[in-house]
Amino acid sequence: MAEIIDGKKVAADVVEAAKQATAALEKETGVRPGLAVVLVGEDPASQVYVGSKSRTAKEIGFHSVQHTLPADTAEADLLALVDRLNRDEAVHGILVQLPLPAHIDAGKVIQSIAPEKDVDGFHFINVGKLGTGETATAFVPCTPAGAMLLIRRVRGDDLSGLSAVVVGRSNIVGKPMANLLLAANCTVTIAHSRTKDLPAVCRGADILVAAVGRPEMVKGDWVKPGATVIDVGINRIPAPEKGEGKTRLVGDVAFAEAEKQAGAITPVPGGVGPMTIAMLMAATVTSAYRAAGRTPPTF
Ligand code: GUN
Repeated sequence: MAEIIDGKKVAADVVEAAKQATAALEKETGVRPGLAVVLVGEDPASQVYVGSKSRTAKEIGFHSVQHTLPADTAEADLLALVDRLNRDEAVHGILVQLPLPAHIDAGKVIQSIAPEKDVDGFHFINVGKLGTGETATAFVPCTPAGAMLLIRRVRGDDLSGLSAVVVGRSNIVGKPMANLLLAANCTVTIAHSRTKDLPAVCRGADILVAAVGRPEMVKGDWVKPGATVIDVGINRIPAPEKGEGKTRLVGDVAFAEAEKQAGAITPVPGGVGPMTIAMLMAATVTSAYRAAGRTPPTF
């Protein structure tokens, strides 16, 4: 049976380290890390995410500000807010929650965030830095950064010689994940819905990352014995066994089958999910250290 990777525990360790680093920076320099989270509209899932981001930020001791704007906010007004936050010295991290309402050009808004405050790692400057291996000064998208930390906890820092397969090619998860694995010396394959014989490709993976958004798509016999399996998917599916109208969360991996093959595997929930917010906090601390001219801690 596989080791079940406890994302909640690792996330709690990262949050604790962020708290200590925050206190140390404030004591030494008077700089308190500041995070601004911007929510436009009333998407219920976004409200939950933004609420927990702001709550964790306060718990750590950040200067935490949340801007909640109505769904009909004009693009120009949102751009003006980002511009104000870019110039606000008390703010080291800016996160504009996605998705944005359809009348707003999300790409334009994201690219208007100052790269040195782009704790989401979505700005082209940060995408380019990650792609060229400038990881010391880049911001990396929080979900793949969290997945990578879990992989390092299992496999160590140098993944030389290991074969990694990332299923999914999104800009937010699949592509940055592949770049992180490449930077750690893995031999990386990015697979996706058009890949020929996906099960066979997955069977070659020492590290298998599933980020496709399809419930339980990766089957047990796609997993190489002893592989490290990282499930980024969070899918809500009907659970009639729990009662009429009930649902449950599953990942992109058929956990019960895959667990029998894997060496280590993340559960859903409680695997990669909790890491995302923790890594956002870590990125904000990193940004504040850079702004204060100090070397940031490693998380
Ligand atoms: N919506 C869902 N996940 C994310 C994320 O990581 N960052 C932002 N900005 N919006 C999101």
